[in-house]
Amino acid sequence: MAKDFSLMEDSNRSSNPSIHDVSDPARRQVLRGGLGALASSFLAPLSAVGGAAALTGCASMGMVAAAKIGFKSVAISTADSITVPEGYIAHVIAPWGDPVGIVGQNNPFKDDASNSGAEQETQLGMHHDGIHFYALDGSRRGLLAMNHEYVDHGLLFKDGMANWSAEKVRKSQAAHGVSVVEVQDKGGKWEVVNPSKYARRITTNTRTELSGPAAGHALLKTSADPSGRVVLGTLNNCASGITPWGTYLTSEENFIFYFSGGDTMSPHERRWGLRKNGIGYRWHEHDARFDAVQNPNEPNRFGWIVEIDPQNPNATPMKRTAMGRGAHEGATVAVTKDKRAVVYMGEDARFEYIYKFVSRDAIKPGGAAANASLLDHGTLYVAKFNADGKGQWIALTHGLGPLTAANGFADQAEVLIKSRQASDILGATKMDRPEWIDVDKQGWVYATLTNNSNRGGNNQPAVDAANPRANNTQGNIIRWKEDVDFHATTFAWNHFIMAGDPSLARADAKGNIKGDMFSCPDGLWVDGRGLMWIQTDMSTSAMGKGDLKDFGNNVMLAADVQTGEVRRFLVGPAGCEVTGVTETPDGRTMFVNIQHPGETPSEQNNPANPRAISNWPDQKPTGRPRSATVVIRKKDGGIIGT
Ligand code: FEO
Ligand code: CA
Ligand code: CA
Ligand code: CA
Repeated sequence: MAKDFSLMEDSNRSSNPSIHDVSDPARRQVLRGGLGALASSFLAPLSAVGGAAALTGCASMGMVAAAKIGFKSVAISTADSITVPEGYIAHVIAPWGDPVGIVGQNNPFKDDASNSGAEQETQLGMHHDGIHFYALDGSRRGLLAMNHEYVDHGLLFKDGMANWSAEKVRKSQAAHGVSVVEVQDKGGKWEVVNPSKYARRITTNTRTELSGPAAGHALLKTSADPSGRVVLGTLNNCASGITPWGTYLTSEENFIFYFSGGDTMSPHERRWGLRKNGIGYRWHEHDARFDAVQNPNEPNRFGWIVEIDPQNPNATPMKRTAMGRGAHEGATVAVTKDKRAVVYMGEDARFEYIYKFVSRDAIKPGGAAANASLLDHGTLYVAKFNADGKGQWIALTHGLGPLTAANGFADQAEVLIKSRQASDILGATKMDRPEWIDVDKQGWVYATLTNNSNRGGNNQPAVDAANPRANNTQGNIIRWKEDVDFHATTFAWNHFIMAGDPSLARADAKGNIKGDMFSCPDGLWVDGRGLMWIQTDMSTSAMGKGDLKDFGNNVMLAADVQTGEVRRFLVGPAGCEVTGVTETPDGRTMFVNIQHPGETPSEQNNPANPRAISNWPDQKPTGRPRSATVVIRKKDGGIIGT
């Protein structure tokens, strides 16, 4: 396995213009509207998305005052434990390998990782990421839908990648995807409900369907699926989003690295970063789907936003092609005054783009069933950030501008499948690895740009206004406000926070944080009160040295969006990434995902010494580190963050 694969992705060689002036335009416009009244009418009768949670995940444009931070900062730490502020308690649920709760499938985790592939298909996957709480009974019981992004074969198997086999590929694929677990508050302590009629695993082998304009296109047909409409599974599920109609959106991020491309590569394959042997997953050795020489269209069937109904374990996950293909980090829904869904998406790769999708139709009352094809019709746009603090959304619509057959786009399906090439030719702004996106109560849309150490390097794109730091090791958070409403094609933008360490000598690494320093922002979420939560992902190959020498482990912080003040709330265990956060509707229980505790710089542990860096959370002498969900509450039962 190779190093942090998101860092490796750098296949944008287009010559889009760069802008050299840095600007910081004043914010002008306050958008009005408000999802509050709308949300209740969109929801399924079961109240699929609890009140406050509905508002927080699906941005509103209300005029609510920004929330204040009420806790005392925690210190930087390199300990192999979770730190939360004074007055808070944290405990762990739903670690990798525990039964997800499927009726009749209660297969316990084995400390030596000897569970079979069939057992892993009934257990929580590895490397927890995006997560959302769907209330079933107010704030006491609900479903957690969560992503499992990737795996560490050194921890997944007793003997790592030795004796590589079809059975090992099955288990590796089963540890990817999505889990739906039912959870409940049992006298003050949250537990997974096992068994539960809702419990579900979606893996890289679960039947999914493609829908929307590209479904059935020639570029999506394979020998196993001549219809071009049915795909086995989803993978590298990173950030998540939710819809006002109660569904879960999971994004397929670094899908390309699971495929082997052989010795010759088409321009399309090169633009998407296909490699001769992927980056070491070796699935293609036992599953021909991942051999892109034999099955050159199979990679085109990944990289989509996938919609899942967490309340219906029999519902088919749908790959929504109208929202375009990408190394998608997430999908964040905002709602226009006329009730259309606007979905913001970043593509986390060096010099890739920020997108938004505007639905053609208005959201209807009646939950998931009434909105089953809402995300199949609409317009996809890519962002261009200008040096004057303004920006444009440019439509990825076939026939408009250069998106014609003469330029390699035969139809709208080809524009969507080749969204990167379309964005190149449209002159979109190449960003410093856009990760999570969310919207605050005033209608500002925030995107984390996690880092980009190639920015400004030899033969690399130069700095520009939106990406103003050469060798951007620390990352930043950019924000924009749409003109008039979320569907607008123009916006005003500025930089919210430049991350960094003020004690460093290099100007581009210092940052301008008001409060606790952090680096490499990744997860970002605005809660029901309007408080912003920021999660960091310093890669294990970079943390603790160079510009990142003094940040300790990865963390979660809170930011006041009006004052810009930042306070550190949680420090994760050694070698982890903190990614994914959600709350109960009452705001009194928070769920935070801890991904890959104990990750080594190679991202592959030595199976002979799995506890080398971390043994969190079990701390058993014979165990191994496990990704897990941390449940956080205030000792006095109060609202988190106050
Ligand atoms: Fe999966 Fe870009 O983080
Ligand atoms: Ca991420
Ligand atoms: Ca990241
Ligand atoms: Ca990670």
